[in-house]
Amino acid sequence: MPDPASAPLWVQARERLAAAQSVAVLTGAGISAESGIPTFRGAGGLWNNYRPEDLATPQAFSRDPRLVWEWYNWRRETIAKAVPNPAHRALVKLETAKPQFTLITQNVDGLHDLAGSGRILKLHGDIWRLRCTSCGAHWPDRRAPLPKLPPHCGCGGLARPGVVWFGEPLPDGMMQEAEHAAAEAEVFLVIGTSAVVYPAAGLVPFAKQSGATVIEINPEQTAFSAMADFSFQEPAGELLPKLVS
Ligand code: APR
Repeated sequence: MPDPASAPLWVQARERLAAAQSVAVLTGAGISAESGIPTFRGAGGLWNNYRPEDLATPQAFSRDPRLVWEWYNWRRETIAKAVPNPAHRALVKLETAKPQFTLITQNVDGLHDLAGSGRILKLHGDIWRLRCTSCGAHWPDRRAPLPKLPPHCGCGGLARPGVVWFGEPLPDGMMQEAEHAAAEAEVFLVIGTSAVVYPAAGLVPFAKQSGATVIEINPEQTAFSAMADFSFQEPAGELLPKLVS
């Protein structure tokens, strides 16, 4: 009987994932990279060309709502052309196989929904929803591009993207649900995130301290690569389907 520890690392990770009853996943922009959506950091990242504080903060929006909407309109058009890739689909397959499964995403692109994922905690909101800055109403709007910038609410108030900007609180109760999932997880998958934005990034050490096996997939090393039980510097679209097979 060969020693299981001598099997390739990805096989060991696959076996560990197969045996787990409770799985939680944290995804970032990298899981959508192979769908053609640019990431924020790392090679070719958006923040290499723009300053976050100029585009993704409440101050930027109140200073120049039209500029911020031009950027989100461009992102909506880019995302509208994208389809889920094998990594998104592998998570849907994993969800159907697990009695306890929670997908926690930092992404606002909606590709996990499009792929068919069910239980999704959207920590940073949804680019396909708009919210009125006056009356607080919020609604889905998938038009890309939007016909008029900046868009307005039926009440006449200025509408903003339904996303969480730097310095803003996460949706009520969202982090508590995410922390509960991380605490219960036997395996915590960390896929396509630079793990530099909190509180989302804090879920990784939290899961580890709660006893989860942490499996990271990211072509670049991150601050948590050393603490991960498995850290694969590979594209998620190639490795994740193998781990879920
Ligand atoms: N597979 C897996 N990971 C990939 C791939 C790929 N094919 N391609 C790139 N990556 C990795 C990059 O190496 C990078 O570490 O994905 C990571 C993406 O990191 P970021 O661009 O920082 O995205 P994310 O971690 O989701 O950012 C968190 O920051 O700007 C805010 O609100 C925004 O939700 C976002 C948050």
